[in-house]
Amino acid sequence: MTEALGGLEGKAFDFESDYGREYDRFIRQIIPGYDSFFEICLAMFSGVIGEHGKVLVAGCGTGAELDCFARNKPGWKMTGVDLSGQMVDIARKKLEASAREIGFEPEIEWIVGDVARLNHQGEFDAIACNLVLHFIPGLAGKLEFLKALRSLLRPGGILILMDACWEKKQEFHTWMRAWWGFASARGLSARKWSSFREDFERGLHPLPKAEQEKMVGLAGFEEVFPFWSSLHHLAVVARNPFA
Ligand SMILES: C[S@@+](CC[C@H](N)C(=O)[O-])C[C@H]1O[C@@H](n2cnc3c(N)ncnc32)[C@H](O)[C@@H]1O
Repeated sequence: MTEALGGLEGKAFDFESDYGREYDRFIRQIIPGYDSFFEICLAMFSGVIGEHGKVLVAGCGTGAELDCFARNKPGWKMTGVDLSGQMVDIARKKLEASAREIGFEPEIEWIVGDVARLNHQGEFDAIACNLVLHFIPGLAGKLEFLKALRSLLRPGGILILMDACWEKKQEFHTWMRAWWGFASARGLSARKWSSFREDFERGLHPLPKAEQEKMVGLAGFEEVFPFWSSLHHLAVVARNPFA
């Protein structure tokens, strides 16, 4: 059987490889509350855009956010963007299967490419960007990326941003055992866990939780509110200023 997480042999977090193909199962073994997180995103977006609006999922991966939104908000027009053609293919198939199940064809524009280079300035009421920013190294790169997301929002539009966030202090190492405990109880093998540890050492660039929150403010967002946290992950919601 192929091991999805290649460890040091391959590129860390290669979404075009088996890692992408096995992502749906893996991510649920790694992030406690992964699925219910999207229900919170849905509720937050609903409070701002109601039944009709335009939503961008930046780094849509295999389509977890899009699927949750499509099943609940038939009036939302959605755009799913991802660098990986494989992830978009998986997401598209997932949404096609959901459409058959719910008997309704959600309106989704699919784009394979870099979300920071989209030419949809000011078009969106809401953006979900989950588990993406932590792949960008350096504060300057992260800031530039967040500003690019802000430019895609209408005035008053909102961003939800969720990432791995940590500082390698004593608590980080202590609670790493708990993380492994959770993942192994969900069926992750020791080999895959150790490959994941290698991958995140070389391929993830997380900020400490307080820095993540601050960075969103530096990019020009207002009302920055950290609303969800799960082990080493943090989500914030923030608003693009009205004027
Ligand atoms: C860990 S997955 C997260 C997928 C989904 N948002 C979720 O929460 O499960 C990160 C995805 O972001 C994509 N990605 C990373 N940087 C991106 C960028 N600049 N533009 C578009 N997609 C990007 C990757 O290809 C990958 O599919």
